[in-house]
Amino acid sequence: MKRSLTNIGGRAQTGGDAKAAAVLAHALDVGPDEDEHRAHVHGFHTYAARMHPLTAARLVSGFAEPDGVVFDPFCGSGTVLVEAMIAGRSAIGTDLNPLAVRLARAKTRPRDDAELAALLLAAGEVAAHANARRKARAGASRRYSPEDVHLFEPHVLLELDSLRVGVRDAKEPARADLELVLSAILVKLSKKQGDTSEKTEGRRIGAGYPTKLFVRKTEEWTRRLVDLGRLLPTPAPTAKVDVDDATILATVTKANHPRRPTCLVTSPPYVATYDYVAHHALRLRWLGLDAQDFERGEMGARRRYTELSGPRAQGFWEDELAGFFDAAARVLRDDATMVLLMADSAVDRHALRADDIVAAVARAHGFRPIARASQARPHFHAATTAAFHDAPRREHALLLRRG
Ligand SMILES: C[S@@+](CC[C@H](N)C(=O)[O-])C[C@H]1O[C@@H](n2cnc3c(N)ncnc32)[C@H](O)[C@@H]1O
Repeated sequence: MKRSLTNIGGRAQTGGDAKAAAVLAHALDVGPDEDEHRAHVHGFHTYAARMHPLTAARLVSGFAEPDGVVFDPFCGSGTVLVEAMIAGRSAIGTDLNPLAVRLARAKTRPRDDAELAALLLAAGEVAAHANARRKARAGASRRYSPEDVHLFEPHVLLELDSLRVGVRDAKEPARADLELVLSAILVKLSKKQGDTSEKTEGRRIGAGYPTKLFVRKTEEWTRRLVDLGRLLPTPAPTAKVDVDDATILATVTKANHPRRPTCLVTSPPYVATYDYVAHHALRLRWLGLDAQDFERGEMGARRRYTELSGPRAQGFWEDELAGFFDAAARVLRDDATMVLLMADSAVDRHALRADDIVAAVARAHGFRPIARASQARPHFHAATTAAFHDAPRREHALLLRRG
């Protein structure tokens, strides 16, 4: 199994424009500070390869004009969008993963006290419904798939079923939040070791615990929203989030976004490392989210790279990146800047060095590399260790400009 990158500090190597490179290096230099990483809405729901919020904040303040529009076309759980709003910039987010879009939308939509009170009330009603069904020993509302039967203890599955039915019957806008609360607790209540692991382990979960956890998690979510609300300037900048393929960007039109994005800040998928469709299959299934387009269009997905030789994998990745640069060139303002946070990967014994690959593809597709900073990162995948024999695996912050 490959593990996500751990920030281990260390000296950053820089290149290009010295002033910009120093800002990039500072953004990378963020240590594994868990509190910083999990503050307010950032800590509500796990998401593989989330950006460190401090990195996002430093990139936004370093490169996005104060009155500009920040765009993250691989917005994932919304880290860049939230940090852009805190820094007073409006934001646009897109991602092909429907779960990511639901999360990013929830985190960036400001709420008032009345809405938060209604949300807590709705969670209480769902819990009462689930407790009543448990006490009445009611059966499941539907037949569950063999995957679910395998992943949950029977009594946990029954209780989750009652919560799911209660959430389904809740009124909007509470319903959208409660679905994410359910998503946030699903893996913890299953036998799965985590999103990115196929391994399972036995867990003792008492009757009534899933419902208690559901209520606690809703309370935690409302507190996190209040905490974020305190950090936002008044009036709060807006963020608009849509499902879109970063190689198409059909939603980033003048009609949808009268102001063109001026600064793109993003972390594209780590090539050949994650498989978000598989990692999120459980959550997508329980939320009833359609992942067919995501299955077809997920970039960098490990499942597409495992059968390829190293050089063919590099060619395939270059084509995927070219599609992204072409789409970005169409939607960004002519003088826009782009900041990419990317790590080296490996297929077989072949290292895919993100900085070199991006520089070459970007030049051929409308962007000039301006500056970069790179920091060494550990490599956990024993089978591809040989790829990093000559030079360590690194994470890069890359600044590019249109034209
Ligand atoms: C490294 S993650 C981004 C994480 C994000 N910065 C955060 O803090 O949560 C890469 C993202 O790319 C998305 N993705 C993969 N292929 C995509 C595509 N073709 N179009 C748009 N998004 C895609 C994945 O769903 C994932 O959310």
